[in-house]
Amino acid sequence: MGKVMITDTILRDAHQSQAATRMRTEDMLPACEVLDKAGYYSLECWGGATFDSCLRFLDEDPWVRLRKLKEALPNTKLQMLFRGQNILGYKHYADDVVEEFVRLSIKNGIDVIRIFDALNDTRNLKTAIDATKKYGGICEAAMSYTISPVHTEDYFVDLAVRLEKMGADNICIKDMANLLLPYDAYSLVKKLKQALKSETKVHMHTHNTTGTGDMVNLKAIEAGADIVDTALSPLGNGTAQPATESLIATLQGTEYDTGIDLNQLTKATDYFRGVAQKLKDQGVLDPKVLSVDVNTLKYQVPGGMLSNLINQLKQAGKSDKLYEVLAEVPRVRKDFGYPPLVTPTSQIVGTQAVMNVITGERYKMNPKESQGLMRGEYGALPAPVNEEVRKKVIGDAKVITCRPADNIGPELEKYRKEIGQYITQEEDVLSYALFPQVAQKFFEKRLAETVKLDTSVLDKTNNAMPV
Ligand code: CO
Repeated sequence: MGKVMITDTILRDAHQSQAATRMRTEDMLPACEVLDKAGYYSLECWGGATFDSCLRFLDEDPWVRLRKLKEALPNTKLQMLFRGQNILGYKHYADDVVEEFVRLSIKNGIDVIRIFDALNDTRNLKTAIDATKKYGGICEAAMSYTISPVHTEDYFVDLAVRLEKMGADNICIKDMANLLLPYDAYSLVKKLKQALKSETKVHMHTHNTTGTGDMVNLKAIEAGADIVDTALSPLGNGTAQPATESLIATLQGTEYDTGIDLNQLTKATDYFRGVAQKLKDQGVLDPKVLSVDVNTLKYQVPGGMLSNLINQLKQAGKSDKLYEVLAEVPRVRKDFGYPPLVTPTSQIVGTQAVMNVITGERYKMNPKESQGLMRGEYGALPAPVNEEVRKKVIGDAKVITCRPADNIGPELEKYRKEIGQYITQEEDVLSYALFPQVAQKFFEKRLAETVKLDTSVLDKTNNAMPV
């Protein structure tokens, strides 16, 4: 492995950011042999929205995907994205569910778990960090990067040191909106490398939404970043990560050489060009996400959120309101105490902004997720909220100040009982815990197919019997 290490996101963030997370396992497997030989630090391939998308849209079992990828990628670390106490869902789960999810993710093949909290509330990361260490995973704690009056450089350095003390092996700067400008990246990474232990790796994660992604990575590398995220070019750039090939070529022969052979990667590039074309043909890859959008620097909207907003408005027949909604996002964010915009807060702030615009009256309609955020159900908000808005959103409801999961008793047994009849593997309980309706539908379909299969076997047996 070279001086600078690369995590390729082609199997997770790249298609989540550009193509609504619709890449299928069958589209991944043919490239695995080449990817496995490349010499990456890791391949990000699971977690984030992939789990939900498998069950909801692709009729795939996400756990089966993970096992297939592990088998096809025996020499490369598999990495997943994990939303702290939210796991991969959109609410807080009990500690026993979080721990079980970490245990089974590692058991099924995950090596590196990137754990983040949308609000950077470290209380929400603790259970996942402890479990990752307990089950032998590499713990990468991520800081959700954002810009606001409270999110200063000192804030992030202090946060990183606290996460290291909590047990993080790597510290990730998760710049999901590509807001971190190249020279700021240089300065932040320099300070992090000074403040952290020498064995703690700094991992840069950015996007290319605003067109600065390659420069961010390069400046981060010059400042001492150990690992950076890129995506193979067919799904690289735009709202996804900067292209892998371009960075490898840039660093070749320098003190930062990645040691990755560009010629070897060509096969994977060619292959994924076909996959990208298929996603375009299906209409899930909108070429709009590929163009540089400097407005993002102003509106602070992450890649995945931008494509969600476009889709939400398209469905409501209000595509012409996109720029009005993008202007409303920072106002909602200020009212809500400057949460960084990342799942689930990006959806909460985004949906609230859409409602504020399409109903024509701000906070006339308040989704229950907005209420939860204002009640403190997601953790402590980084800055004081607009109390007038809070009153409109939650009325006189009590605000929570403890760690949200402290109010949740063990849940695993309850889920196990509820879905017992469908369980064919221990992982099913977790699929159900995270996405109850979607998982149950998936299980019902799976069961129906098994029964059909059994009957056809039985039919054949009957026919074979002497009469
Ligand atoms: Co990302």
